Amino acid sequence: MEHTRINRLLKTDEFGQEVIVKGWVRTFRNNQFIAINDGSSINNIQAVIDFANTPAEVMKKIHTGAAVRVKGTLIESQGKGQRVEIKASEVHIIGEADPDRYPLQPKKHSLEFLREIAHLRFRTGTFNAIFKVRNALSFAIHKFFNEREFVYIHTPIVTGSDAEGAGEMFRVTTLDLNNVPRTDTGEVDFKQDFFGKSTNLTVSGQLNGELAALAFGNIYTFGPTFRAENSNTTRHLAEFWMIEPEMAFYELEDNMDLAEDLLKNVLQYVLDHCPEELEFLKNRLLEEEKSKPQKDRSEHNLIDKIKFVVDNKFERVSYTDAVDILKRSKPNQKKQFKYPIESWGADLQSEHERYLVEKHYKKPVILTDYPRDIKAFYMKQNPTDENGNQTVRAMDILFPGIGEMVGGSQREENLEKLITRMEEVGIPQKEMDWFLDTRRFGSVPHSGFGVGFERLVLFATGMSNIRDVIPFPRTPNNAEF
Ligand code: 4AD
Ligand code: MG
Repeated sequence: MEHTRINRLLKTDEFGQEVIVKGWVRTFRNNQFIAINDGSSINNIQAVIDFANTPAEVMKKIHTGAAVRVKGTLIESQGKGQRVEIKASEVHIIGEADPDRYPLQPKKHSLEFLREIAHLRFRTGTFNAIFKVRNALSFAIHKFFNEREFVYIHTPIVTGSDAEGAGEMFRVTTLDLNNVPRTDTGEVDFKQDFFGKSTNLTVSGQLNGELAALAFGNIYTFGPTFRAENSNTTRHLAEFWMIEPEMAFYELEDNMDLAEDLLKNVLQYVLDHCPEELEFLKNRLLEEEKSKPQKDRSEHNLIDKIKFVVDNKFERVSYTDAVDILKRSKPNQKKQFKYPIESWGADLQSEHERYLVEKHYKKPVILTDYPRDIKAFYMKQNPTDENGNQTVRAMDILFPGIGEMVGGSQREENLEKLITRMEEVGIPQKEMDWFLDTRRFGSVPHSGFGVGFERLVLFATGMSNIRDVIPFPRTPNNAEF
């Protein structure tokens, strides 16, 4: 490779060396200064060209967005704003960019506009920083599990089951939608479909993960999951990535310890390995918040917020205690909640989660032991409590500014209890027989959880819309690019 990556040059002290860089023009000023970015850093390198010695043919093609190869001498910069620059001896245009058509001009573009040109937004500083942080988090997650001897398992994307039992699935079919085959009774005949049965995109790898955990001990999955929930919010995607560890012989406390450890560990990794990106994103957020009223601005900057989470123990609270706190809370008394908390058993809405995390505890909270009726069928059932309430060994981790980051539980390992629960919620046992074998043969206490990867990236980058932390977001009415 004849060229050097720009991040290396920005750090070196070896002035006087001949260098070649290849990248894209970010700006071109005064017919003299080209800011070049090759993606290796948020920062550009400045090349100073000699107007007189550069052919007019080349000069007129140096525009924002064009790909260039610049050869020259690395020198200590004369100007402000950078330490090094290149005194160019030769500029070559690798790929032109028509300035009348290239949508990314050197000015501030709104995040909304950049979402519309998501195919080009990688070329901005903000998205460079975001996807570097995403990359670092992703690597840190694999590193964390690898160091603890968890086995990385690839669970299927196309499945015949609804792991969460919530029915929010995307169907996978090759049937001709204009001529759907029917059975004698008029139903769609999935026997004639590609897999000979009805299939969908997975909503979670958990059930398959459980099978592996009951052989390997500790496993994790990290892959795309799909939910056809019609939630057009800043926290929901139709396609998102989830990390799902599953551990044999783990009870709920072990599960919580692991989840807390994981989140702190990977956030520390980002603090250690992405200082420039975090500094950039911190300043971006400060800038963005300037336009907000004082009361809506964050108390702490992005880096301090991440450090706070890493350094402080998460609060662990039962659902029952949380409901008591919410019932007595000011917004509930003053009827400011859209969904007032009246009685035990209510599902918590994001306004309640935010109150607990942002107003009451002011730190991440692990809520445990939810009512059985608002949670998935596979969760381990607690004995009925003194008030006759039935709860499960569930845990959700709530984060400031994000809401639910993690959902998990200890699993029901008792075959009879599990079958009864499936019958109660209407999950056909016949289709899930393979899953039930875990409870038939060598069943053990086991636990696991799922981390919404994009929600983690949201927290680490200080972005406020989940569409900005995945390269090509899929949301209701949007599957562009
Ligand atoms: O709470 P959920 O639905 O849990 C499960 O799927 C379990 N099977 C996990 C397990 O125990 N192995 O989803 C887990 C996490 C949520 O806490 C949230 O962070 C994220 O996945 N999540 C979403 N993220 C983005 N868009 C969506 N539509 C999401 N739905 C869930
Ligand atoms: Mg959940």
